[in-house]
Amino acid sequence: MTGLNDQVLPRKLIVAVGSGGVGKTTTAASIGLWAATQGKKVLVLTIDPAKRLANSLGLSEFGNDEKQIDLSGVPQADGGELWAMMLDTRTTFDELIRETAPNQDTAQRILTNPIYVTMSDTFAGSQEYMAAEKLYDVVSSGKYDLVVLDTPPVKNALDFFEAPGRLSRFMDRQVIDWFLHPPKKGFFSTVVSGTSAVIYKLLGYVFGQDFLHDLSEFLQLFNEMVDGFRERHEHVMALFASDRTRFITVCAPTEPSVEVAGFFAEELKRRSYPRAGVVVNQVHGCTQGPLEPQVLLGETAKELAADLEPRTAASLVARLGAAHGRLRQQHATEQKLVRQVERLGSGRVHEVPRLEHEVHDLAGLLEVSTHLFTEPLSREESS
Ligand SMILES: Nc1ncnc2c1ncn2[C@@H]1O[C@H](COP(=O)(O)OP(=O)(O)O)[C@@H](O)[C@H]1O
Ligand SMILES: [Mg+2]
Repeated sequence: MTGLNDQVLPRKLIVAVGSGGVGKTTTAASIGLWAATQGKKVLVLTIDPAKRLANSLGLSEFGNDEKQIDLSGVPQADGGELWAMMLDTRTTFDELIRETAPNQDTAQRILTNPIYVTMSDTFAGSQEYMAAEKLYDVVSSGKYDLVVLDTPPVKNALDFFEAPGRLSRFMDRQVIDWFLHPPKKGFFSTVVSGTSAVIYKLLGYVFGQDFLHDLSEFLQLFNEMVDGFRERHEHVMALFASDRTRFITVCAPTEPSVEVAGFFAEELKRRSYPRAGVVVNQVHGCTQGPLEPQVLLGETAKELAADLEPRTAASLVARLGAAHGRLRQQHATEQKLVRQVERLGSGRVHEVPRLEHEVHDLAGLLEVSTHLFTEPLSREESS
């Protein structure tokens, strides 16, 4: 098979990683659309689609709704469906509480606890954490053949991969136990409980008794859910490492972006996560050699610029020639970077040209997916 087909179609989960602004969301959506045209029921879980793309797909910013995209204008195999969801961190957090809480009463008390309200709004890394959480839900629901996850644009890849671990650790049972039941025996306990008594008094003084009540209630309630969190986290980690998953790195043909791709290559390798290659997006094409603008354009320019001064016409032609020269230069620089990406050893490298227009609708996504999925194998691979 050509392009990314054999990497994508047999999987349950595709994760697109890379720095922001390079076309990660576009790539994730294109992969989803292609799989749907091949008869798969696909969900694209996205974080920050460009406004025009979100609008044209009918995605709304709030509420975590899975929304079916109308594919009536797109040729496709039977059974294919494309769904998309824009992740809303807060709603996901609330849903998570409802699902992991032992009963409705506990869930309700947590959701209305002021500490929870503040924490869920400001919790560092909650977006990454929630992406992983939602992922667990949709993959384990069995509703989709394939889920494509568009990861948040984090500078540090670790933020994303370790966010679930961070929350588990934060909510570690031992830590919470310690808060709830400080050690009662020995010298250490005297110091410790003395300390926490002072701290509690101080907190009470600063924040008021209500705060202390909210905090202790919050910790008690969360305590009941720690095992649930950990279990889900372990499932997500196991899914990431399994053969049902592929990670695709997306980058632009620029030095900083290729550097980030290199960082991801290392991280994915270190964690033994299955890699499906790298997409280098927005590559400038220029296959022609140097052109002599006067030779190429001289006659045409003469006709088109009949009413221009000969000197003006000549200068226009010279400028066009210079522009072409710059494009060739840029092409050469970008191709060097593509070779550099190939040497990362992160799997096959797929180039997607920079299109003449932004990718803001199904037609644009389909165009990108054609580059990703129907490119012929290179000579070495087909032999
Ligand atoms: N191959 C391409 N050709 C032209 N424009 C593109 C291409 N890929 C992405 N874009 C445009 O670049 C912008 C950023 O793309 P997006 O997928 O939102 O990036 P990211 O998710 O990495 O931040 C969008 O406006 C999108 O339409
Ligand atoms: Mg994006």
